[in-house]
Amino acid sequence: MRMLTDPAALQADCLDRRARGQRIGFVPTMGFLHRGHLSLMALARARCDHLVVSIYVNPLQFGPTEDLAAYPRDPQGDAERCREAGVDLLFAPTELYAPGHATSVRVAGLTEGLCGRSRPTHFEGVTTVVARLFGLVQPTLAVFGEKDYQQLAVIRRMSADLALPIEILGGALVRDEDGVALSSRNAYLTPEQRLRARSLSASLRALRAAFDQGERDVPTLLQLARAQLQVDRLDYLEIVDAASLAPLSVVDRPARALIAAWVGSPRLLDNIALNNSALDPTALDG
Ligand code: PAJ
Repeated sequence: MRMLTDPAALQADCLDRRARGQRIGFVPTMGFLHRGHLSLMALARARCDHLVVSIYVNPLQFGPTEDLAAYPRDPQGDAERCREAGVDLLFAPTELYAPGHATSVRVAGLTEGLCGRSRPTHFEGVTTVVARLFGLVQPTLAVFGEKDYQQLAVIRRMSADLALPIEILGGALVRDEDGVALSSRNAYLTPEQRLRARSLSASLRALRAAFDQGERDVPTLLQLARAQLQVDRLDYLEIVDAASLAPLSVVDRPARALIAAWVGSPRLLDNIALNNSALDPTALDG
């Protein structure tokens, strides 16, 4: 595995490979890698000749009161995990933006609800960094996790709107054995908070169980889920159209239930698919 920190060197290398007809797979991350990230690498690995992973804690996507400085880091452990995952090139810049950087990419609509309400500048930071990384890496395909379901939808929209010739793949959400969605931010949880963090996935499971038994009324489903929660503060718990992310009052199409809540200092995310499982046997995977 090679490692680069210089954006220009990365771009030169990737352009050369593209010119030679190689398929470049790309997994952007902020590091502190866990099995969720590794599952995305495995998905990309099987579909490309050259696998590029980036690690960059992007200041643009953190709000002024958020955890940028405290974001967990483990550069050596991350490099080891990437090597084991068969990564060809690990790009870990200290500075990603050129001096005088003045461009931002903003996706309207999709970014306004859900996480966008409590983090109004977040997605603009994400799309700006991902657009720049796409320009540097020139990937054939890029993989994003369904853990950040809204982020995946926003990146798909950006890529379609800007006609980027990049296949965007979604990877399934990976959980720990106790049901908690894997996240770098779980590192902040105390043992007591970790127990309460389970209530996010437990609430979504309760919601899905009622859905599977035929309940389609959204207020009823949400009330059932809310009763399970042991969080310090709920940001949102919603059921939305799986593609447009528009809120639903009745689940009459493929949908997603999403939750964001604070347990101690970290704000945790989780989500689950609500498909008609009688028609779609894969619906149970979400
Ligand atoms: P980060 O939080 O490091 O996540 C990198 C990728 O891993 C994202 O696509 C995310 O959805 C995915 N991921 C995280 N936890 C996962 C889990 N439990 N199961 C499956 N996939 C999971 O998301 C970001 O970084 C940044 O916003 C980034 C896209 C790199 C832009 O800075």
